[in-house]
Amino acid sequence: MILFKPETQVFHISNKYISYIMEIEEGGYLAHLYFGKKVNDYSGNFKYPRMDRSFSPNLPNAKDRLFSLDTLMMEYPGNGFGDFRESAYNLKHGDGSTITDFRYKSHRIQKGKEKLFGLPATYGNEEEAETLVIQLEDKEKGLLLELSYTIFQEYAALTKSARIINNGETKTKIKKLASQSIDFPNQDLDLLHLNGTWGRECQIVREKIEYGTKVLDSKRGSSSHQQNPCLILAQPQTTEFQGEAFSFCLIYSGNHEMVIQKDPYKQTRIIMGINSFNFDWQLNPNEMFQTPEVVLSYSSSGLNKLSAVTHDFFNYHLIRGDFKGKERPTLINNWEATYFDFDEEKLLNIIDEAKDLGIEMFVLDDGWFGKRENDDSSLGDWFENRGKIKNGLSQLANQVHSRGMKFGIWYEPEMISEDSNLFRQHPDWALSVPGRERSPSRSQYVLDFSRKDVRENIYRQMKELLNEVEIDYIKWDLNRNMTDVYSAILPSDQQGEVFHRYILGLYEFLENLVEEFPNILFESCSGGGGRFDAGMLYYMPQTWTSDNTDAIARLKIQYGTSMIYPISSMGAHVSAVPNHQTGRNTSMDIRGNAAMAGVFGYELDITQLKEEEKKEIKEQVAFYKEHRRLMQFGRFIRLRSPFEENDVAWMFVAEDQSEAMVFYYRVLAEASYPLVHLQLSGLKEEWIYESEEMTAAGDELMNLGFYIDPNLFGDYATKRFYFKRISPCLE
Ligand code: DGJ
Repeated sequence: MILFKPETQVFHISNKYISYIMEIEEGGYLAHLYFGKKVNDYSGNFKYPRMDRSFSPNLPNAKDRLFSLDTLMMEYPGNGFGDFRESAYNLKHGDGSTITDFRYKSHRIQKGKEKLFGLPATYGNEEEAETLVIQLEDKEKGLLLELSYTIFQEYAALTKSARIINNGETKTKIKKLASQSIDFPNQDLDLLHLNGTWGRECQIVREKIEYGTKVLDSKRGSSSHQQNPCLILAQPQTTEFQGEAFSFCLIYSGNHEMVIQKDPYKQTRIIMGINSFNFDWQLNPNEMFQTPEVVLSYSSSGLNKLSAVTHDFFNYHLIRGDFKGKERPTLINNWEATYFDFDEEKLLNIIDEAKDLGIEMFVLDDGWFGKRENDDSSLGDWFENRGKIKNGLSQLANQVHSRGMKFGIWYEPEMISEDSNLFRQHPDWALSVPGRERSPSRSQYVLDFSRKDVRENIYRQMKELLNEVEIDYIKWDLNRNMTDVYSAILPSDQQGEVFHRYILGLYEFLENLVEEFPNILFESCSGGGGRFDAGMLYYMPQTWTSDNTDAIARLKIQYGTSMIYPISSMGAHVSAVPNHQTGRNTSMDIRGNAAMAGVFGYELDITQLKEEEKKEIKEQVAFYKEHRRLMQFGRFIRLRSPFEENDVAWMFVAEDQSEAMVFYYRVLAEASYPLVHLQLSGLKEEWIYESEEMTAAGDELMNLGFYIDPNLFGDYATKRFYFKRISPCLE
C-alpha cells in the first residue's frame, strides 16, 4: 500500500480507493502532490512547475530563480524560507529565533499502526493497515519532525499526525504544531463545516472558499457546540450522491484550529490541529511532543459515500471495547422526566412502567449524589444522596436488575461546585489564576484535570461506587467551558500547556476507567453535543447528540452530525410535549421516527402518559428493537436535507442490501402542497423489495421511487417504510 520510488523521490500511499502522493523536492523539502481517487502508478509528471515569480524568495545557494517555497504545494509547511502562507508549525528556539528548517532525513514503512502516545487514535493490525513515517530534521537545532501516515486496506481513508523530538541541547518552545497540512492545486472548492451552539449543534454551513484565510476553531477548552472539529471540502457541483468530497476529522477533544487558506494562485491549504491560541509547550532536550491524529476520507460519489466511509471507519477502527459493533440498549433517562425532583418511589414507578413498555435500561441522571437538589452544589462529592434514594443506589440497581433491565448513572467528573466538600477541602483544585476571582458557569468551576492528584481523587471516588453498585452504563457530562485557565502546579512559563495537559489528563483518566470497567457502556455528553468528537468516541462509543430533544430541531442536528459521525454513536430520545427546549408540540409518531435515527431512548415521565401513548411507545420500542441493527449499523443515506427543504428524508440499508428503513418527515403543512416522491438509494437493482405499502424492484424504488401520501395532514407529519427483499431477482 505504501511505495517509495528512489528515482523520483516520490511517496505513493494507496489502496483500492485512494492515492496520497508526496515528493521530496529540491533542498529536501517535502512537497504535496495529490490526494484523491486511486491512481495505479504515478509517473512523476505532476512535478510542480518551475518559474521565476517576483517576490518569491529562492532557497539559500539557489542556482537560479525558478524554485521557491512561496507557491509550492507543501506537505507540512513552515515559515521562514519563503512560504508566506499559513504554517503548520511555529517553534521558538532558545536563541529567540523562530526559524526552523525541516528537510527530509529518512523514512520507514511498517505494517500496522502504532498507538499514539497518550492520545486517542484509530487502530489497525498488520493485515489491515500500513504506516509511513517520514523523518525531517532541522540539523542546526537538532530537532526531528516525524510525519506519520497510515492507510487502511478497506477504507477510502488515511490518518495523519506529527511529532517532534528534541535531539538538540537546548529547549524549544512549541507555539504551534498542527496535526496535518495539505495543499490542493488550483480549483474551486466548497467548504462544509458544522457550526452551532447549545441546543443547535452541527448546523451545516456550506460556502465557497474565497481568497484569503478563514479560521474555524474552539478556544473553549473542549471541542465545543460552536465548531465541531471536522470539515469537508467538496467540488461546487458535489451533492449527496455525486461529485468529489474530502473530509478531515480531528481526533481531539480540546481547543482546536482549522485554517482554510486560498492563495492568490487558487491553491487551497487546510491545516488542522490543537489551537495555537494560548498554547505553547516547552520541549526539553530528549523530549517528544505528539500531535493528535486527523482522519482524511475521500469520496468520488458524493457526501453520502463520504459519510459512509467515516461511519464504518469509526465504528470498526476507532470505537473499541465490548460495545464495538454491538447493538445498543434502548433506555429511559429520568432527566426531562423529573430533573432534580425525584425520590426512590418516583424512580421505581418510572422503572416499572419502562419495563412494561419493553425498555431495556434505566438511566439515573443528575442529582443522585452529595446533597444535590439543584445545579448549585455537590459536583465533586461523588457519594450517594440517601435523602433521595432511601435504600441506597445498590438497592436501586438491584431493583432495576431484578426487572431484567440494565442500570445506568450520570456523572460530571471534571467539575466542582463551590458548595461541595471537595471545594471546601481543595479550593485550589479548580482552575484559577492566583489573585483573581473565578468565573462561574452553571454555578460550577472546572477541576484542574492536568493534575494527577486531582484525577486520582475523582477516580478513587468513582471506583468506590462502581465497585459497590452494579452499574452498566455511565453518562459522562461536562456542563461548562473553561475559563481562568491556570494550573497551580505548573511554573509560570509553562502555563500555555494547561489546556492540552488537561485533555491529556482526561484521556489518561478515561483510558484507566474503560480498562478497569470494560463492561460499562459509556455515553459522553457536554450539555448535549458540546464534546461530540472522535477523541471521546475512542473511549465512549456513544454521545448525547443534543440537549435539544425537539423532533424537528433534531432533524437538522442529526443530519449535520451524520456528516461525519456514525449513527451508532448518536444518542436520541423521545421527550415530552410541549418540548422543553422549543415549546413545540409534535406527535409521538414523529418524535419516535426522529429518535429512531439514532441510539433510541425516552426521556419523559412515562407514568403520566395516556394509555394510547403508552401503547404507541410499546410499539415503537418493539419496532426499534427488532430493527436496531439496521438503524445503528446499516448504511445511512441522506435523501432530503432539512437545511434545504420542508420535506426531509433519510434511510438505512443493511450491509447485504436485503432490507432498508426509510423515514420521511414533513416540517410544515401547506394547502395545495406539491406532490412529494422519494427515490431510494443503496438497494440492489434487480431484487424485489416488499413493504406494507408496496412491492417493487430495487431499480424501480431507486429510479422512479414512490409518492408520499398526499393526504398527510398537519404540521410535523411523518412516515416510515420498512422494505425487505422477497426474491433474489425479477420474476
Ligand atoms: C446536561 C445534559 O446534556 C442533560 O442531558 C442532563 O444530563 C443535564 N446536563 C444534567 O445536569
